[in-house]
Order: sequence, then C-alpha cells, then structure tokens
Amino acid sequence: MSPAHTRFSLFKNAITIFGAALTTTGAILFLAFLLLELAGMHANPYVGMLFFLILPGLFVAGLVLMPLGVWLAHRRDAAGLTAWRPSWPKIDLNDVTQRRATAIFLASTIANLLIVLVAAFAGIEYMDSPQFCGQLCHEVMEPQWAGYQDSPHSRVVCVQCHIGPGASWFVKSKMSGLRQVYAVTFNTHSRPIPSPVTDLRPARDTCEQCHWPEKFHGDKIRTIRTYADDEANTESVTTLRMHIGGVNRLDKSATGIHWHVSRQNRIEYIATDDKRQVIPYVRLDDGKGNVTEFLADGVADAASLKGERRVLDCVDCHNRPSHTFAYSAERAVDEAIAAGGFDSAMPFIRREAVKVLKVAYPDRAAAFRGIQNGLTAFYKDAANVPKASVDRAVATAQHVFARNVFPAMNVTWGTYPNNVGHSDPGPSSYAGCFRCHDDSHKSRAGKVISQDCSLCHTIE
Ligand code: HEC
Ligand code: HEC
Ligand code: HEC
Ligand code: HEC
Ligand code: HEC
Repeated sequence: MSPAHTRFSLFKNAITIFGAALTTTGAILFLAFLLLELAGMHANPYVGMLFFLILPGLFVAGLVLMPLGVWLAHRRDAAGLTAWRPSWPKIDLNDVTQRRATAIFLASTIANLLIVLVAAFAGIEYMDSPQFCGQLCHEVMEPQWAGYQDSPHSRVVCVQCHIGPGASWFVKSKMSGLRQVYAVTFNTHSRPIPSPVTDLRPARDTCEQCHWPEKFHGDKIRTIRTYADDEANTESVTTLRMHIGGVNRLDKSATGIHWHVSRQNRIEYIATDDKRQVIPYVRLDDGKGNVTEFLADGVADAASLKGERRVLDCVDCHNRPSHTFAYSAERAVDEAIAAGGFDSAMPFIRREAVKVLKVAYPDRAAAFRGIQNGLTAFYKDAANVPKASVDRAVATAQHVFARNVFPAMNVTWGTYPNNVGHSDPGPSSYAGCFRCHDDSHKSRAGKVISQDCSLCHTIE
C-alpha cells in the first residue's frame, strides 16, 4: 500500500481541486448572503434564485466532484498494478498526519451537512415566497401578482391558499411546479392562465385555516358609487345591506349568504362549461335527510349532463379573493373617481376615461401612449380644466389599465369573471349568484332557487 503522503497526493488532481473551489465559493457566498437576509435585506426574486437555488447547487456539485476526483486518481494510480481491486483506504489513527486529516475530514463533513440542511430549508422557504411564485416568471404571473398585491390577502403567502399545510399537497405542488417550469421555458402555457384552477385544494383546508364557515357575519353595508356619461359625471349612490349571515351562535341556525357553507348543508352542482359559468343542476342535502334536486329548464336529470360535478365551497363564490380585476372599464373608472383618482369636476371625464381604456392596445407601452394622447387631445381646448388635472387623469387611467389589462397574457376586461354578485348586463357581464338564483332552476315539487332581491341584500 502507498504511504500516507502519497494518499494525500490523490487530492491533487484537477477535478478535486475544482470541486473544492466550487464548494468553498458556494459556501462562502451562500453564508454571506444568508447573513444579509437575516439582517433584513431582502433580495429581489432573481437574486434570490441565484443564492437560494444556484449557489447551494454549486456547493453540492463541488462536494460530489471532490471524492469523484480522488476515486478517478486512485484508479489511475492503481492501473499499472496487476491485481488491483477497488479498496477502502486504511486509516491509521496512530499516525499524527492521518489523525489530523481524519479530524479535518469529519469536521468539514459535519459543517457541509449543516450548510446543505440550511440551504435546503432556505431554498424551500424561498420557493414558497410570494416573490418566487408571483414575480419570477414575471410576464406569466403578472396579472395575478398585480391583483394579489392590491387585495385584502396581500400579506397571505400564495402557498397558503394554493397548497396549504401537509406533505402530500407539498409534493403534488412541486410536481405540478415542474410542469409549469417546463411550460414557461418552452412557452407552451396558455394565455391567459386558465381559471378555475384544476385540482385546487378544497377551501376546507386552505381558507378555513383563517376563516371558519360558522363565523357569524350578520349584515354588511356596501356603498357603490357609479357615475353617468354626462358633462357633470353625475353620481348615483347605491347602498346595499348584504345579508351575509352565517351560523347563529345562540340557536345554531344557518342564515343568509353563508348558509351555503354551514356544516349541515351540502350543495353539489354540475357545471357544463370549463369556467363553471353554466350550472344546469344543483343538489341540496340539508343534513336532516332531505335531498332536493334543482334542474334548469329543459334538463331531465343529472345523468344526462356532461360536466364537472363539485361540492360548493368558498371559492365557488369567492373565486377572486386575491386576484381581483374590475370586470369592466366602466366599473374601474367609477371606482377610481370615487377614490379621488380623477378630478370629477372635469367635464365628461367618466365617458372619456372609459373610452381610452376600452381600446384594444397591442401592448402596455402603446396603451400608455394612447391614453395620454386621447385625454390630452380631448382637454386641449377646454377652458377651466387645469393642466394638473389632465396630468392626474392620464396617470390614473394608466394605472387603472396596468392593474386590470395585460395584453401580453391576453387578459382584458371581463376575462376572469367574479362570482360574488352579478354584473350589469354587458359584453363582459357575469352571472355570479344568478348562475343558480334565476327563478328557473326547479325542483320536482316546483320549488325554485330564488332571485328575490331581498333574499341576499336590501337596497337602501
Ligand atoms: C386568499 C387566497 C389566495 C392567495 C393568497 C393567492 N391566491 Fe391565487 N387563486 C386563489 C383562488 C381562490 C383562485 C381561483 C380559484 C378557482 O376559481 O379555481 C386563484 C387563482 C390563481 C391563478 C389562476 C388564474 C386565475 O386568476 O384564476 C393563478 C396563476 C394564481 N392564483 C397565482 C397566485 C400567486 C402567484 C399568488 C401569490 C403571489 C396567489 N395566487 C395568491 C386564491 C389565492
Ligand atoms: C392566512 C390567513 C388567511 C387565509 C388562508 C385566507 N384569508 Fe381571507 N382574509 C384574511 C384576513 C386577515 C382578512 C381581512 C383583511 C382585511 O380586513 O384587511 C381576510 C379577508 C377576506 C375577505 C373579505 C375581503 C374584503 O374585501 O373585505 C374574504 C371574502 C376572504 N378573506 C375570503 C377568503 C377565501 C375565499 C380564502 C381561501 C381561498 C381566504 N380568504 C384565505 C386572512 C386569510
Ligand atoms: C354562496 C356564495 C358564498 C359562499 C359559498 C361563501 N361566501 Fe363569503 N361572502 C359571500 C358574499 C356575497 C359576501 C359579501 C360580499 C360583499 O358584498 O362584500 C361574502 C363575504 C365574506 C367575507 C367578508 C365578511 C365581512 O363581514 O366583511 C368573508 C371573510 C367571507 N365571505 C369568507 C368566506 C369563506 C371563508 C367561505 C367558505 C367557508 C365563504 N365566504 C363562502 C358569498 C359567499
Ligand atoms: C342570490 C343573491 C342575490 C340576489 C337574488 C340579488 N342580488 Fe344583487 N347582489 C348580490 C351580490 C352578492 C352583490 C355583490 C355585492 C358586492 O359587490 O359585494 C349584488 C350586487 C347588486 C348591485 C350592485 C351592483 C354593482 O354595480 O356592483 C345591485 C344594484 C343589485 N345587486 C341589485 C339587485 C336587484 C335589483 C336584484 C333583484 C332582481 C338583485 N340584486 C338580486 C346578490 C344578489
Ligand atoms: C350552485 C348554485 C348556487 C349558487 C352559485 C349560489 N346559490 Fe344561493 N342557494 C342555492 C340553493 C340551492 C339555495 C337553497 C334554495 C332553497 O332551498 O330555497 C340557496 C339559498 C340561498 C340563500 C337563502 C339561505 C337561507 O337563509 O335559507 C341566500 C341568501 C343565497 N342563496 C345567496 C346566494 C348568493 C349571494 C350567491 C352568490 C354570491 C349565491 N347564493 C350563489 C344555490 C346557489
């Protein structure tokens, strides 16, 4: 056998030295970055990808290369010998050099394992961050990211609604994540990203971590301001008292809108289109042994229908809890006027803003130019309209556009219907509650799912 000093010479080969360099650089950069991150400096998603996924990858690759180099060198050295068999190194701990080398080897292995653990943990945490989910494939996720940041859930991480707790959904999501990386890399994904999400985890396991269906909400007042297309942008105010209801703590009775999700009621439905907008069949089991089937006009029974069968849960109404887009340019402009984004003293600002926002622009830059040119041209000769008001109108309209319309992803007004409510009729209208509540889904006994306005809200 070769003496100890030649054994160390096995380490002096190009592959091992390269591996050691990779591992050392990877480890130092990774640890330095981790310290910065712990000190509160948060990187953008691209830098995050470099540090949390690529550097640890280099580190591990180096760790693999080092012994590989030694093994190859060992084989090469031994190639001349006749009776060579792969053999384990003999370590003699009485030899000072070998003892030291073994100690160094063990210590660095423990340190390496720790680094790999920390890196794996940080990598998983990073992949669960909204920045990774929402910003890395910037163009693809841009609509959902924009809606998310503006929503009541902007501090809820994506994975809490999309994956939820537990190992099996984690694995499922990583598998579908791989498919998505493929789709984005090879540009095979659809534009827009389809909704509803297939195989979304049931709301029971996600939303209900924070909201419980028995919570009693009672009534909620909603004030909706709309504006006319006249010179004065005349305002109308509708006040709705929404009967959200829930489960009454005193007698456990379920009432109002959240009656659908009280534990005793189970509503199933069949949707015959892939956006779940056409619902010809509804089945209600009230938990007391009464089952009622409601069928749309002309439908004989459930068996004759082709489509997805689903148990109704939160996301059948709240399908936009986090990615909310205004369903029409009219609605978006009304909201912006109500919020003070436009100077409502500008004559015809409602009509003109809607007009420039409804044009089908090829991309965002063209839209911004079109909005600017359209509004400045209209108010060019208007006396009594300060330039500052026009500039603000342009900026607001551009913001409204960027928040709701995404030409690169084919997302425009009404692309994603919102099932909470029912829209005014129009090109981008949606039925929402009226998918079932249309007075024409009938049970065999002649009962209908009611469209009575005061069932859901009183208008004040
Ligand atoms: C409050 C819960 C919630 C959070 C937080 C959330 N989502 Fe969603 N997301 C939903 C629901 C609900 C749907 C629509 C489900 C359906 O109808 O099947 C959806 C749909 C989507 C879709 C499909 C297209 C669409 O608009 O319907 C994408 C893509 C998406 N989310 C990405 C994200 C990303 C990225 C984040 C984080 C930046 C995120 N989501 C955060 C609840 C959430
Ligand atoms: C991690 C906790 C968490 C999860 C998970 C969560 N929410 Fe929420 N949700 C909140 C909080 C907190 C608020 C209140 C936000 C506020 O008032 O600013 C809220 C508000 C809401 C509101 C009222 C919005 C409004 O405009 O006032 C709805 C509706 C809602 N959530 C539905 C859902 C649905 C549907 C899901 C599942 C897809 C879900 N939430 C998942 C924490 C959560
Ligand atoms: C049948 C449709 C429907 C279902 C199913 C439904 N909701 Fe709602 N929910 C509504 C409507 C409508 C409102 C009132 C919206 C508004 O006008 O602000 C509402 C309001 C809310 C609010 C805000 C309450 C407040 O006081 O501001 C929360 C939170 C909420 N829902 C969570 C949930 C959760 C969680 C589930 C599932 C367990 C669920 N909802 C199921 C229709 C529904
Ligand atoms: C099955 C329940 C239900 C029925 C029946 C119903 N509505 Fe509504 N309505 C809603 C919900 C939910 C909203 C959305 C509130 C919100 O935006 O948060 C809404 C919103 C509205 C709005 C405001 C629309 C907007 O611009 O945002 C008006 C106006 C309205 N309803 C009128 C009516 C009238 C009139 C009837 C009777 C023909 C009626 N609704 C029947 C549930 C219902
Ligand atoms: C999948 C079908 C379906 C959808 C969608 C739906 N509902 Fe219902 N809803 C029902 C059925 C079925 C009943 C029970 C009808 C009956 O027994 O008279 C009901 C009953 C109700 C009730 C009366 C509850 C009680 O106190 O007895 C309210 C309020 C209501 N729905 C509001 C809404 C609102 C608001 C929406 C939209 C956000 C909505 N529903 C969407 C199927 C639906």
